[in-house]
Amino acid sequence: MSNALFTPIELGRLHLKNRIVMAPMTRSRAIGNVPNELMVKYYAMRADAGLIITEGVAPSPNGLGYTRIPGIFSEAQVQGWRHVTDAVHEAGGKIFIQLMHTGRICHPLNMPAGAQILSPSAIAAQGEMWTDGSGQQPYPSPIAMSESDIMRAITEYTEAARRAIEAGFDGIELHGANGYLIDQFLNTASNQRGDRWGGAIENRIRFAVEVAQACAAAIGADRVGMRISPYGVFNCMVPDTEMDAMYERLIAELNRVGLVYIHVVDHSSMGAPEVSPELKAKLRAAFNGKYILSGGYDLARANADLEANRGDLVAFGRPFISNPDLVQKLQHESPLTVPDMATFYTPGEKGYTDY
Ligand SMILES: Cc1cc2nc3c(=O)[nH]c(=O)nc-3n(C[C@H](O)[C@H](O)[C@H](O)COP(=O)(O)O)c2cc1C
Repeated sequence: MSNALFTPIELGRLHLKNRIVMAPMTRSRAIGNVPNELMVKYYAMRADAGLIITEGVAPSPNGLGYTRIPGIFSEAQVQGWRHVTDAVHEAGGKIFIQLMHTGRICHPLNMPAGAQILSPSAIAAQGEMWTDGSGQQPYPSPIAMSESDIMRAITEYTEAARRAIEAGFDGIELHGANGYLIDQFLNTASNQRGDRWGGAIENRIRFAVEVAQACAAAIGADRVGMRISPYGVFNCMVPDTEMDAMYERLIAELNRVGLVYIHVVDHSSMGAPEVSPELKAKLRAAFNGKYILSGGYDLARANADLEANRGDLVAFGRPFISNPDLVQKLQHESPLTVPDMATFYTPGEKGYTDY
């Protein structure tokens, strides 16, 4: 069998010891939205990955849509993350932080006092989300962002990028996937604006591109990647007929910014529509930086896709939850432990640091 997954690779200024990426996964262990010692242990246990991408982390109190997710806008959060990055580096790993602004995917009961529920248009997502205080609650109606709200959000991402470097991260991943704020701008189901931030493709991609540009200017484009989910339906996103054209245009703009990677989500293994192999190949050919594959990978498929040059790195999500030693297990072709879904988002060490 091919050994491609275990070969080293350069990512911007980083040397990665293998091509195995730990996919970003929200685990809701950050009581009070501050990273803690349990999280230090969790990430350090998984430092054999070539690159860890953290769970989604809010760049602003307005982005703290889920319960117990961490932020990176306060001093206490920066200090907490510093312990995480130190421990991962000491264990020989590299770590990017995923900046996730939840936008309309939130509930006021999960958010600090004074936080605002913002989205490109005042369209609520359909359905409900978990709150610790009152169980399942319907998604609230967001406020359509004003020009100054948009400018402030871009500044918050930029400040978060600076703080990430201060906290010792090797780089940042902008969460442009799965129906969160950046994706809410990209998608016509959540963006029905008539100004320069909505409507035509060049307007809908503007927020993604400006956030990428501002973060790249702050910390260097070689330390900024973006995650995207073409044809994703999570969080009420709806594919439209311009989807291929929009992502091709977005990739062209991200090339201009010089982003270090794109990380393409294909959640067909989780029941989402498949991203066509044609579009994936087009994005792969068009993008100048590294390409991270993700979604339902096992050892054989990961090696096959790397051998076929469909990507440069492969992200593993759920397998990393229940196999902190995933790299060794893949290397020795040992059987993998199946994760317990019931503890994906529960507080405490059970299902988190006890596998
Ligand atoms: C518990 C859990 C939490 C997740 N949280 C995030 C997240 O915060 N950000 C993100 O981009 N994707 C998130 N995902 C999606 C994963 O990154 C990944 O794309 C998905 O699990 C498919 O990969 P897999 O088949 O290897 O698990 C999450 C997935 C799971 C299972």
